[in-house]
Amino acid sequence: MTGLTRRFSSRRLGVLVSGRGSNLQALIDAISDGRLDASIAVVISNVAGAGGLDRARNAGIETAVVDHRGWPSRDDYDRALVEELRAREVDVVCLAGFMRRIGPVFITAFPDAIVNIHPSLLPSFPGLHAQAQALAHGVRVSGVTVHLVTPELDAGPILVQRTVPVLENDTEETLAARILVEEHKAYPEAVQRVLDGHWIVEGRRVRTL
Ligand code: GRF
Repeated sequence: MTGLTRRFSSRRLGVLVSGRGSNLQALIDAISDGRLDASIAVVISNVAGAGGLDRARNAGIETAVVDHRGWPSRDDYDRALVEELRAREVDVVCLAGFMRRIGPVFITAFPDAIVNIHPSLLPSFPGLHAQAQALAHGVRVSGVTVHLVTPELDAGPILVQRTVPVLENDTEETLAARILVEEHKAYPEAVQRVLDGHWIVEGRRVRTL
């Protein structure tokens, strides 16, 4: 059992992005309209041109680029990320389309305080191209999962899931767009749940106390 009754007094988020950053935008919007009681201390990307960095700058949020290339090992890269987050006194880390695996060095630095969003109903369809995997499998329902990050890919305890129907004529793009609408609701909801505390991880379950 881990997690106990977490309390995050400062509620400072660090958001990691590699791409367009629409989930980052959902967090920014939720904070500004009062659905999410938090602040974003920094947005970090491994890609200098990531659209998410522009969204952060437009919202007046500090940004940093930590290129994943050129580090002797993943542990060294993870240490560099942790250093950037610690320097801004981040409490909770949100992976929002961050396309790098993070390892034990990072995970143990933020116990039960790293959150990821994945565009399928986990444990179905982990990894890349989750929407294409769902279509290929012929499922009739898919959705989004927000979960705590553990060393195993897309396998941590689940915080929030939301479902969407898979329609007869869906393509990867149309299904992804339908799921994305739900992602933008699920991510702020899940982060609020983490920050509010009064939960524990029991086995695979996140249980509200
Ligand atoms: C989302 O589909 C998210 O679930 C996945 O990567 C995508 C990121 O999209 N992990 P965006 O950059 O937040 O728009």
